[in-house]
Amino acid sequence: MLSLVVLISGGGSNLRALLEASEDAEFPARVVAVGADRDADGFEHAEEFGIPTFSVAMTNFPDREAWGDSILEQVLAWSPDLVVLSGFMKLLPPRVVAALSPNLINTHPAYLPEFPGAHAVRDALAAGATQTGASVIVVDNGVDSGPIISQERIPVLPGDTEERLHERIKPVERRLLIQAILDIANSQIDLKELARS
Ligand code: GAR
Repeated sequence: MLSLVVLISGGGSNLRALLEASEDAEFPARVVAVGADRDADGFEHAEEFGIPTFSVAMTNFPDREAWGDSILEQVLAWSPDLVVLSGFMKLLPPRVVAALSPNLINTHPAYLPEFPGAHAVRDALAAGATQTGASVIVVDNGVDSGPIISQERIPVLPGDTEERLHERIKPVERRLLIQAILDIANSQIDLKELARS
């Protein structure tokens, strides 16, 4: 059974999908804690499922490194097998990535390496893209630049707004994330090998 710590910043709809998936006794992973860089709305999903939460706001620290060290301490207290960034909108400092890598994965609402960064859906629309996508990656020190675990194309439809397109992308992200966790748990995906590639 894989133990997961999930880090979020927002509403946590992908976190919720993971919590629902882990209600199935056959699902080979359990969320042991949910962390955020703020008092995230998504904590309510964790609370509903009885999962402990922790929040580490950057403003309480003199610099990013000290903030990252505090997040790392909180994460490691749960000895997770895997850390999932699911809508966590801050870059983790290199020390944190080094400590958790390669067992640190991220979901992203675009077909990477297209449209990395915090506004992937908006950027795809602004670029006039006719298709975008969803990706699950291993986190490295770049911005959404790590090795790709899985990804899928999603068409941009006429009249799509950022919100509408994002709402169509999220169910695909959830499916990819849950499948990636299954594959990691069943050794179909070797994160160490992927991180070396
Ligand atoms: C998701 O689409 C996730 O991929 C994205 O934020 C959304 C969070 O939604 N993350 C990024 O853009 C990271 N670069 P949620 O809070 O409802 O799960």
